[in-house]
Amino acid sequence: MIEGIVTWAEIDLDAVEHNVRAFKRHVGEQVEVIAVVKANAYGHGAVPVGKAALAAGATRLAVHRAIEGVELRRAGITAPILVMGYTPPSGAAMMVAWDLTPSVTTLEFAQALSAQASANGKRIPIHVKVDTGMSRYGLMPPEVVPFLQAVGGLPGLSLEGLFTHFATADSADAAGALAQLAIFQRALAAAREAGFSPPVVHAANSAATMRLPQAYFNAVRSGVALYGLQPSVEWTAPFEIQPVLSLKSLVARVRRLPAGAGIGYGFTYVTKEPATVALAPIGYGDGYHRVLSNQGVVLVGGQRAPLLGRVSMDQIVVDVSHISGVQMDDEVVLIGRQGTEHIRAEEVARMAGTINYEVTTALLPRVARIFQRGGKVVEIKALGIA
Ligand SMILES: Cc1ncc(COP(=O)(O)O)c(C=O)c1O
Repeated sequence: MIEGIVTWAEIDLDAVEHNVRAFKRHVGEQVEVIAVVKANAYGHGAVPVGKAALAAGATRLAVHRAIEGVELRRAGITAPILVMGYTPPSGAAMMVAWDLTPSVTTLEFAQALSAQASANGKRIPIHVKVDTGMSRYGLMPPEVVPFLQAVGGLPGLSLEGLFTHFATADSADAAGALAQLAIFQRALAAAREAGFSPPVVHAANSAATMRLPQAYFNAVRSGVALYGLQPSVEWTAPFEIQPVLSLKSLVARVRRLPAGAGIGYGFTYVTKEPATVALAPIGYGDGYHRVLSNQGVVLVGGQRAPLLGRVSMDQIVVDVSHISGVQMDDEVVLIGRQGTEHIRAEEVARMAGTINYEVTTALLPRVARIFQRGGKVVEIKALGIA
């Protein structure tokens, strides 16, 4: 327990490194691993996780937005940082000032980047995203060559990458991803025929990296599995990945209730018989989903304790009637291990009707992040602690 902190996520940086190395071994020396650390590294803490991923052999980081890249640069990270999402022309100055690698799909943005790069005497590598069927961000395949021709003449820019993203690489049936791959391969071939040969071509997310070697090109962009989270609910990872995040809180009150006691807002749970309940200071104000009301489960004293009543903004109440000797300040595990029990983010996701990605990404800054190596605390990121 860290003084004054009642609700925290332990981030195992050794596990991040293990997972990156497992990916490196899986894809082979010739293929770069781009560690996707957008959205605060899926809630895990972008800076320490990004540094650990690079130390373990990732060669680049990827984020969605420029400001996420700036956070990494401010923390001293010098590796290439790909900004995968849309940036308006007004973001060109930030991109150039911080040496971020933009993905570019509009001529207006390319021109703004070119002007900024030229004014600063820089040459900015750009990646072009192709929409091969997901109907989100990216150029349609027939637009790629004309776009490359249009930006090819702009000073201060160099075409470094061409990439796409799969919609269904996690599903048991790989047909959808293979169809997208074929579209991407044709777009790449057309670009090459037109004289453009981007050196870094990438398509595979974690799921495709695990199952579709034909989608590797020069690099893979892995996110969720670097956090030890399973990329699919339909199959399990073909190599061992270690969960990185444990979510913990403390017993803040233990109480014996009579039959007929209402618990929490709306009295959605009323005890049918006398019960012993424990309070823990975690709620939807921490990113613990309210939909887990009367559904969720935590670990106390190495045993499963079900949630009773609603998840409030700051607190939950759990049933510990079957667990002896529960004391104030005992550890409560919401994700992770305690004794022989283990609650995975996947289980919480199932209970909340969502995906493991959202369970960790939802964790808000009020949840302190405690970074560990070899079981020892190496860094703390918490509100109120510099
Ligand atoms: C464009 C892009 N590439 C790669 C990833 C990483 O995907 P995953 O976390 O499934 O490995 C994401 C995440 O959603 C993404 O949006």
